[in-house]
Amino acid sequence: MSDLPLVEGVLKYVKENNISFSMPGHKNGKGFFATEEGKTFINNILSCDITEVEGVDNLHNPEGIIKEASELLTQLYGSKKSYFLVNGSTSGNLIMVYSSFKEGDKVIIDRSCHKSIFNAIILKKLKPVYIKNRVCNSFNAPISINMEHFFQVIKNNRDAKGIILTYPNYYGICCDLEKIIEEAKNYNMKVLIDSAHGAHFGISNKLPKSAVKLGADMVVTSSHKTLASFTQTAFLHINSNINKDKVDFYFSSFSSTSPSYLLMCSMDYGRYYLQKYGRNEYNNLIELAEKYKNKINNIDNMHVIDEQDINENYSYFMDRSRYIINLNNNYNSNLLLKYLRENKIQCEMSDTHNIVLIFSPFNTEEDFKYLYEVLRKCDLSKMKFQSINIHEYSIPVLKLSPHEAVNKPKKKIDIEGSLGRICGENIIPYPPGIPLIMMGEIIDKETIIMLKYYLNNGIELIGVDNGKVKIIE
Ligand SMILES: Cc1ncc(COP(=O)(O)O)c(C=O)c1O
Repeated sequence: MSDLPLVEGVLKYVKENNISFSMPGHKNGKGFFATEEGKTFINNILSCDITEVEGVDNLHNPEGIIKEASELLTQLYGSKKSYFLVNGSTSGNLIMVYSSFKEGDKVIIDRSCHKSIFNAIILKKLKPVYIKNRVCNSFNAPISINMEHFFQVIKNNRDAKGIILTYPNYYGICCDLEKIIEEAKNYNMKVLIDSAHGAHFGISNKLPKSAVKLGADMVVTSSHKTLASFTQTAFLHINSNINKDKVDFYFSSFSSTSPSYLLMCSMDYGRYYLQKYGRNEYNNLIELAEKYKNKINNIDNMHVIDEQDINENYSYFMDRSRYIINLNNNYNSNLLLKYLRENKIQCEMSDTHNIVLIFSPFNTEEDFKYLYEVLRKCDLSKMKFQSINIHEYSIPVLKLSPHEAVNKPKKKIDIEGSLGRICGENIIPYPPGIPLIMMGEIIDKETIIMLKYYLNNGIELIGVDNGKVKIIE
């Protein structure tokens, strides 16, 4: 047993993983060493860990350097006002929901939202109506919302006060937000966007458009996911006539009163780098990614997904600074992820059929070359498995709003006997990571068939324990 398990554990991990194709965007610190300004910050990092004393402003009432930095952030994103978040996109999602809706409001929500949105729905006592995700058969994964279902849901729920969407999803796939915002405006609904994975969007025209520029009312972007900024940092952008005093109040309520200057300085730097170098650097990065995509596509049984693979009736857009490497159905991508890790490459995630890699301008050509070589040498015959197909499913009927369901007494029963009962806990198959049923919804025949299908095929089911599910008594 170590005396310093955390410190030693992290250092061991860092030593074993040389090449980062995952978060955070600074890629093992390289982003800070890319400029003299970044080096100066990092070389003085310990002295920068200060508290809010005179001369260094106050995050909760900015009048000095924090205000100045926020104004630069606002200018870069083209918002009405942008904020530094020291409690991650999680706090940004809570602030958006609290500032935009009243208790009891109906809201239309992407079924693949992050759990901070689902939690906000519970805490603010909202009535959710969900939009299904489209599953793409060619890569066996969700590709953002099902647009036909979106249009149907909005028409059937004209009394909803707003729409909450993820843009892009974890795979870097974006729905047609322009169309969605246009439709939402017809119904006078607010559009809130969790763009945690899209802080770099819009900086180059080779990337998807920024949700702020497309006119969403409020947007959250995680600076740490793709920019040169420390983990836990994020930005919140107000983009319409949402009451700023109200946003300030919830911003204060969901932010620490001792915000870390290290986090704030790193966000200032992430913004600076993106503004000054982002366009060129992302153009170069995408060129590099395209070059190696073509090479990887020549490896048997591997294919990097691109927009042509996923577009059918509606357009979906892809973040080209990510790879989704899809394996032929006979091979298990979780094993590929493990193999890459053994070869000192850290990817973002795998879902049995695909692995996802997140790049930033701090990944070099050597990184891509090494990735390609390691993939080329991979013996996929050791990774064979019995593939299962991921299906799109209907959203069960909501009997109780999640805030009503959360406080009711619950018990665990066998799946077999749960038909018609009200579900007491969200059940999430992984993959695809989208709730099959959520608390307050009625367990129907289709849900039971899908649960059994996933269980029989060894898919992890969060919320199912030894074949039992939680129901409301
Ligand atoms: C889409 C999305 N939104 C929000 C979050 C929460 O971000 P954070 O962990 O920075 O609070 C995540 C985290 O992974 C995410 O993927």
